[in-house]
Amino acid sequence: MKTALFYGTTTGNTGDIADKVNSHWDAGEIDLFDVADTSLNRVTDYELLIFAIPTWDYGEVQEDWLDIWDSVDEIDLSGKSVALIGLGDQFGYPEWFVDAMGMLHDKVAKQGAEIVGHWPVEGYEFEESKALTADKKHFVGLALDEDWQREQTDERVNNWCDQVKLELGIF
Ligand SMILES: Cc1cc2nc3c(=O)[nH]c(=O)nc-3n(C[C@H](O)[C@H](O)[C@H](O)COP(=O)(O)O)c2cc1C
Repeated sequence: MKTALFYGTTTGNTGDIADKVNSHWDAGEIDLFDVADTSLNRVTDYELLIFAIPTWDYGEVQEDWLDIWDSVDEIDLSGKSVALIGLGDQFGYPEWFVDAMGMLHDKVAKQGAEIVGHWPVEGYEFEESKALTADKKHFVGLALDEDWQREQTDERVNNWCDQVKLELGIF
């Protein structure tokens, strides 16, 4: 399955996560793209897209994602699978935890993508998040907290990659 991971990062954490996903993924190559210097038009070449986005400034979208935000509404994602990764700080910003992942989710779902990789809320402490499924028992993608739970990240990334491959039948 041709796979690309698009990420935006301000202080480097999401870039590190892109590398971790790439190292753990064993179902073919992943092409990594920093959205600061890649147009989303590239998505047409791929069947599985992983979008990784940190939340900044009280529930806002990271700056490089913000620069291409409107173009998300123009890409055709029908027939494609999309998995999301959101970075945030659950104790510093508990009312806005990984909000940007939820905002990106709503946009890509409108473009016809099949969303895979929902992730349980157990193990996180926060008050509100725009990145929850309707039953509030899952995030719409993998939530990671490099500020407070960095020691759990490798295990979360590995388990989530395995879950996504299982959902797609490519393990
Ligand atoms: C000024 C500032 C504002 C932030 N705002 C939020 C927020 O609203 N919600 C959240 O979940 N995390 C928030 N964070 C935490 C970042 O998302 C987190 O540190 C993330 O790992 C940064 O990723 P990056 O290094 O890829 O940019 C904020 C961090 C800073 C420094």
